[in-house]
Amino acid sequence: MPLASPAIDSDVFRHFCARFASGVTVTTVCDEAGNPHGLTASSFTAVSLNPPLILVCINHNSGVLQHFRRASHFAVNILNDQQQGLSNQFALKSRDRFEGVPWRPGHGGSPLLDDCLAQVECMTHKIVDAGDHAVFFGEVVAARVADGAPLLYFDRAYRLLDSVP
Ligand SMILES: Cc1cc2nc3c(=O)[nH]c(=O)nc-3n(C[C@H](O)[C@H](O)[C@H](O)COP(=O)(O)O)c2cc1C
Repeated sequence: MPLASPAIDSDVFRHFCARFASGVTVTTVCDEAGNPHGLTASSFTAVSLNPPLILVCINHNSGVLQHFRRASHFAVNILNDQQQGLSNQFALKSRDRFEGVPWRPGHGGSPLLDDCLAQVECMTHKIVDAGDHAVFFGEVVAARVADGAPLLYFDRAYRLLDSVP
C-alpha cells in the first residue's frame, strides 16, 4: 500500500497544472505489424540541444502505452490551430484514431501526420516510470516545421493565439 503522501491535495495540484499553457501534440508509434497508434499529449518538452532530446509523458492506463514501450522510434506531431478535431480524435478511446487521417511512415515506421505545425521523429533514448506516467525520452533524428499558428491548451480548454507574427 502506498504511504500517505505529505503532498498537496490532488485537486489543488490539478488546478496548478491547468495554469500552465501548452501546445498540443499527437504522439505516434508503429507496432510490429505495421499498425499506427497514437494519443493526444500536451506533456511534450524539449530537454536537450546536444544531444537533441525531447520527452513526452504517457499515462500508465493508456491503451497505447504498450506499443511505445516496444518500439524503437516514435514521432511527435505538433498540431496547428486548424487541428482541434484531430486532438479530440486522438484523445477518444472507442474508435480507430487514424480513420480519415492522412499519414506516412517515418523512421522506424512512426506515423507522421499530414499538415502539422511541426514534427520530430525520435529514437527512444530512455523510458522512466514516474508516478502514474511513463516518461519517454527521445533522441531527435529528423525534424520539420511549417508555417502557421499553434493549437494551445490552457485551463482545460483549447485556446488560440491572439496574434502570430
Ligand atoms: C489536450 C489533451 C492533452 C493530453 N495530454 C496527455 C498527455 O500528455 N499524456 C497522456 O498520457 N494523456 C494525455 N491526454 C489524454 C489522452 O489523449 C487520452 O486519455 C488517452 O489517449 C486515452 O486513450 P488510450 O487509453 O486508448 O490511450 C491528453 C488529452 C487531451 C485532450
